[in-house]
Amino acid sequence: MISAEMQERLTRVGPGSAMGRLLRSYWYPVLASVELAPGQAREVRLLGEDLAVFRAPSGRLGLLERHCPHRGVSLGQGVATERGLVCPYHGWTFDHGGACVAMPAESNPGARLLSRASVAAYAVAELGGLIFAYLGPAPAPLLPRYDLFVLDGALRDIGRAELPCNWLQIMENSVDPVHVEYLHGQHLQAALAVSGRETATGYGRRHEKIGFDLFEYGITKRRVLEGGSEDDDDWRVGHPLIFPVTLRVGANCQHRFQIRVPVDDQTTMHYWYSCYLPPAGRQAPAQDTVPLYEVPWRRPDGSFRTDFVDGGDIMAWVTQGAIADRTRELLVSSDRGLVLLRRLLLEQLERVERGDDPLGVIRDPERNQCIRFVQEHDKLGGSAAFLRRAMDISHARFSPIRDQVLAMLSPPSG
Ligand code: FES
Ligand SMILES: [Fe+2]
Repeated sequence: MISAEMQERLTRVGPGSAMGRLLRSYWYPVLASVELAPGQAREVRLLGEDLAVFRAPSGRLGLLERHCPHRGVSLGQGVATERGLVCPYHGWTFDHGGACVAMPAESNPGARLLSRASVAAYAVAELGGLIFAYLGPAPAPLLPRYDLFVLDGALRDIGRAELPCNWLQIMENSVDPVHVEYLHGQHLQAALAVSGRETATGYGRRHEKIGFDLFEYGITKRRVLEGGSEDDDDWRVGHPLIFPVTLRVGANCQHRFQIRVPVDDQTTMHYWYSCYLPPAGRQAPAQDTVPLYEVPWRRPDGSFRTDFVDGGDIMAWVTQGAIADRTRELLVSSDRGLVLLRRLLLEQLERVERGDDPLGVIRDPERNQCIRFVQEHDKLGGSAAFLRRAMDISHARFSPIRDQVLAMLSPPSG
């Protein structure tokens, strides 16, 4: 249990909030690349701020505050030109730096008026099929070149869901390994049985031991499952929580970032960024673009769809409330990962208050060629067959490239 003040400090993301300042030290995906054609603008929201992102015909990206200083119309509805973003109402035009460069209905606006009409501009960049934004103070740190964004020869897709809950309860799930045995074991099994599908999920084994170690980009999570040992990849290798909002999961040929983007205090955009590597001796089919798909976590009647692994997680996150009330929680020994994460967040928040860069911020290009993370090859004692099934009972079953991935991962016939 924590105090109401501590809960505010840990969860709030808006400008001026303590956690908002820490979170503004990092880059976040705000759109998939396929969603923004040259000449187009889109509305996005990040850390409680309304923004407009645009791509000039030449491909150059821009990111501005959303509301036009004239009479407040959304610049995200405007047209992206080489000169800048054009407001749809009266054509005021804002360049990539936010300066107003045209007021078509004013014959001679003058430098003073133009400078009063400028808007805030932010750093924006593209990597691995995602468009990232940085809202913190200048100079922006480097956009991290995490391995899955830059590896060659992989098949990729991006799943996404907008969730009506605070980012922190999703991150706390990532340092709560034991939920797997009940939520993804028995609860999922029951949900699958109701929908007449298979019954064994393979996730039900009891956790004998859990462990958490800090490393230079976050927390490595480890587990020993009933019948296993510390020689298993689950303990020996584990997988990382990449501070502050990313979890790296997967095994074998499947690798995935789950990125929890704080849209505002009560909304999180969840990205599943998957990277499938071909088994030895095979090649991944060529991809021109990384496809995007929505993960359907509610049924048309509004009920939770818990018959896949991530659907169960989403039900848990959302039903904790818009901001989970930690003044009433009852933590037990298996919740010690949450305690560690909260402590780490508070330490890093103090670092930022002292004017230092927090954990994982990168400014040295040498360090940013490709940031490699380790994760289990054999997860939960899993074989290739287990992993194919895991794909079938996870969000990946909604992927538009699911058949391509399965074909690539399947043993050759004959
Ligand atoms: S409201 Fe944008 S130009 Fe008038
Ligand atoms: Fe889970």
